[in-house]
Amino acid sequence: MRKKIVAGNWKMNNSLNETINLINNLKQNVGRTDVKVMIAPSFPFLKTAVDQLKDVNIEVVAQNINDNKSGAFTGEVSIDMLKSIGVDSTLIGHSERRAYYYEDDELLLKKINIALEFNMNVIFCFGEELKDRKSNSHFQVVKSQLDNTVMKLDSKSWNKLVLAYEPVWAIGTGETASADQAQEIHEFVRNHISEKFNNDIANNVSILYGGSVKPSNAVEIFSKNDVDGGLIGGAALNASDFTEIIKANS
Ligand code: 13P
Repeated sequence: MRKKIVAGNWKMNNSLNETINLINNLKQNVGRTDVKVMIAPSFPFLKTAVDQLKDVNIEVVAQNINDNKSGAFTGEVSIDMLKSIGVDSTLIGHSERRAYYYEDDELLLKKINIALEFNMNVIFCFGEELKDRKSNSHFQVVKSQLDNTVMKLDSKSWNKLVLAYEPVWAIGTGETASADQAQEIHEFVRNHISEKFNNDIANNVSILYGGSVKPSNAVEIFSKNDVDGGLIGGAALNASDFTEIIKANS
């Protein structure tokens, strides 16, 4: 059975104090839930977050990793470093990394491979741009993003993977894909995995939706069969909104 997940991607937001306060608020609010809750603060605060959440069922996730094990890569953060502070999962392929830091499929596959090699869990993000949707090529774009990356993995790797469909036009814009639009892509992706691998893998991988998820639309989006939860940006910076979104997936 695949897991229900709600993950907060805090992006490049919050000072140390703001991070501590937000986590304290989440600790009070989240409580017991069958939803797996994850948060991705920025690098300088990951260790603090891990320490704060020691006895709490909220997992701390990195927003990015370098594709090398170690060495002369000024300004970068390695998997070993993250593991040494108790971080075992990372986002890879977020559209902001693709767009602003030119991360292409080839680099993303390298990152996925090194993450899996060192036993890190991966939340792999993909999704089309507005121009792709307007030209009706969104299925093809999504398929190619996956074929060039996760579809090249062996079947054993899939239990370390979560997928996150994030249509670029819905990220931070206030414009959400409709629940039906999300379901349509998630179902397409699951069918594609089933064809390439098998039904078991397709049915066991969690596929999250991300892009302007809010308390007001979360219930409808999460109600869809192939939507297993959300990757939340803006609304994850507010403890009560994030908590409502988690409840919407229960
Ligand atoms: P928003 O929820 O702010 O649209 O961001 C989504 C996102 O990019 C999560 O990774």
